[in-house]
Amino acid sequence: MIKRALTGAVCVATLVAGAFVGMNAVADEHANLIVNGEIEMVVRTEAPEHMENVDTIYSGWVYRATETQALQMDDFDNPGMLWVDQAAEYFETAQGPEGRSCQDCHESPEALAGVRAVYPKWDEERGVVQTLENQINECATERMGLEPLKYTGSEMVNMSALLASVSRGMPINVAIDGPARETWELGKELYYQRTGQLELSCANCHEDNYGNRIRSDMLSQGQINGFPVYRLKNAKLNAVHSRFKGCVRDTRAQTYAPGSAEFVALELYLASRGNGLSVEGPSVRN
Ligand code: HEC
Ligand code: HEC
Repeated sequence: MIKRALTGAVCVATLVAGAFVGMNAVADEHANLIVNGEIEMVVRTEAPEHMENVDTIYSGWVYRATETQALQMDDFDNPGMLWVDQAAEYFETAQGPEGRSCQDCHESPEALAGVRAVYPKWDEERGVVQTLENQINECATERMGLEPLKYTGSEMVNMSALLASVSRGMPINVAIDGPARETWELGKELYYQRTGQLELSCANCHEDNYGNRIRSDMLSQGQINGFPVYRLKNAKLNAVHSRFKGCVRDTRAQTYAPGSAEFVALELYLASRGNGLSVEGPSVRN
């Protein structure tokens, strides 16, 4: 891992004129994440077999400062939980032409525990890989007669936080074989493709340089097990496709739209790089 990181650092640093600084150790390499004194999270574990260049996968939590880490350790301190509460209200509110609520069909949010961990997932009926957001919109439009929720809008991101919160601590376990394989391959291609004026791929930062500093930030592996993420930077919950957009823009490339086939593929691929880490959403990051 260290050898690999060094090679990457050298080659990328020439491209972005020394943006990456040094080899930094993590604040406390062995810190453990236990939420509310009871939900034990796996924040580091053996990389899934399909990953060729990485031995150990780490949650983004590991790379945050101690104070930021602490915010995620208790629901009273985690600002993201406020929106989880809002979504819980939405969940039981009757709406639409037939006055239905999510609760009419799904007894409680807890009845959907485990769902977050296996999405994005192949949908047999539609013949596509569906994200959790697509699935929520399928229920909202086809089963409740509502307008689709905006893909990265607050109602959607809140609902996705609620569904993540009831799966916290469960291992991410997305399937990448069978009919999902093609989408996964596309996601992998996008992950390694150099784009933009800076000619950087996701891998240049998140595979070759995790643990190194870039500007004021410490690079993580770019895992998505913590989404939606409450960011101190913008003081709100952020959807995973919003984060993709931000990172693509940082390479000064044209970005894809949230919910696009490309971002769905990238999400499936990234999720699979986190297979074995715990569902953490809503997590807290910079
Ligand atoms: C009229 C009944 C109905 C309503 C109302 C409804 N759903 Fe569903 N929902 C279903 C059915 C049926 C499925 C299973 C569909 C499938 O597996 O393809 C489902 C599947 C899901 C899944 C995926 C479960 C899994 O195991 O993959 C999620 C998440 C979900 N619904 C969330 C919601 C949310 C959030 C709302 C409210 C905005 C909602 N649903 C409203 C009937 C409903
Ligand atoms: C120029 C470097 C750079 C590139 C290229 C880059 N990112 Fe990032 N990314 C960052 C930085 C900096 C952060 C914030 C610190 C961290 O969590 O790594 C970040 C954070 C993330 C996170 C949040 C991780 C968490 O735990 O909250 C995800 C997910 C992510 N990036 C995905 C991507 C994807 C997908 C691509 C390729 C499309 C990409 N990044 C390309 C620099 C980059």
